[in-house]
Amino acid sequence: MTGIVGHSETVLHVSGASPYDVVIGHGLTSRLATVLGPDVQRVALLYAGGIGELAQPVADALSEHYDVLALGLPDGEQAKTASVANDCWEALGAAGFTRSDAVVTFGGGATTDLGGFVAASWLRGVRVVHVPTTVLAMVDAAVGGKTGINTGAGKNLVGAFHEPAGVLCDLGLLASLPAAELSAGLGEVVKCGFIADPVILDIVEQHPLAALTHDSDLLRELIQRAIQVKIDVVVDDLKETGGVDGHPGREVLNYGHTMAHAVERFTDYQLRHGEAVAIGSVFVAELARLSGRIDEALVERHAAAFAKVGLPVGFAGAPYEDLRAAMAVDKKSRGSQLRFLVLEGLAVPRILAGPDEEHLRAAYECMVARA
Ligand code: GLY
Repeated sequence: MTGIVGHSETVLHVSGASPYDVVIGHGLTSRLATVLGPDVQRVALLYAGGIGELAQPVADALSEHYDVLALGLPDGEQAKTASVANDCWEALGAAGFTRSDAVVTFGGGATTDLGGFVAASWLRGVRVVHVPTTVLAMVDAAVGGKTGINTGAGKNLVGAFHEPAGVLCDLGLLASLPAAELSAGLGEVVKCGFIADPVILDIVEQHPLAALTHDSDLLRELIQRAIQVKIDVVVDDLKETGGVDGHPGREVLNYGHTMAHAVERFTDYQLRHGEAVAIGSVFVAELARLSGRIDEALVERHAAAFAKVGLPVGFAGAPYEDLRAAMAVDKKSRGSQLRFLVLEGLAVPRILAGPDEEHLRAAYECMVARA
């Protein structure tokens, strides 16, 4: 699955019409110029404002080759607004950015989503390189070219597919990641265990402390495995048009996300995305059990695996009707019909369209009981 370079770098290749590499290692800033290519003159470094000190070495490395426009973004989901995107477009315009210039993002998933969207939309698309600083951004947001911002109606409702020219995952950046953020990032990793790579679950179940240790070999293995799951999915179905042989295609990555997005929206994004994914995955496992697709043991495996890495598996903070309404604006919905990713067995994902309303309510009650 991997190509090892020297002792410390792993290169995972993403094939397709716009191929690129995801490099995993330490101190990767020296690679930036190679990944950006020879034609770039100006680089906009869009970084999460709260980690400006960490972004400085990246700005310095870029300055050796390019005119650098450094733009600090609001932290977290606050960055993912039309107003912030507009500020970036205005700054690019004022600095004279052309089609041969580029964007580098430095931050978590929200920075990647917003920065990727700015790159996708400026002059209908300029190069972007992602330098994710969180586990969540490394394993999910930075790979696969999905970019987007939120609107009042929900999360990621405006966006574009825009693949990066490269992704540089510097594991050293995880040293300064707060423990709760590292844990939340493992929500997406554990999700990958259920939808595609059960070895991830074995590691988390047997070595939860190592999984939560920023410089452990096992965390690195988990990150690499989760990135590989994502690569395999996006290579087969980049634009989320559907899979083959019953596999849902890219939609599989949204396992647990229908309820997760509803909970995030209801809590005004106070809950971390990975925490909401843990809650949403256990909810959808209950829904699959109630629909006769999986057994109780697999539901309990969900709850135990997410709990092992310190994530919540229940939520009692919103009435059913509100979450039901929020789920209706999920991107997977078609007309008035809700659609969920469910399992029919471990790593056997399928679509459940138009679930029984009583099952939905019963799965909600289970979610409340686990809170
Ligand atoms: N984060 C889900 C996807 O990239 O499709």
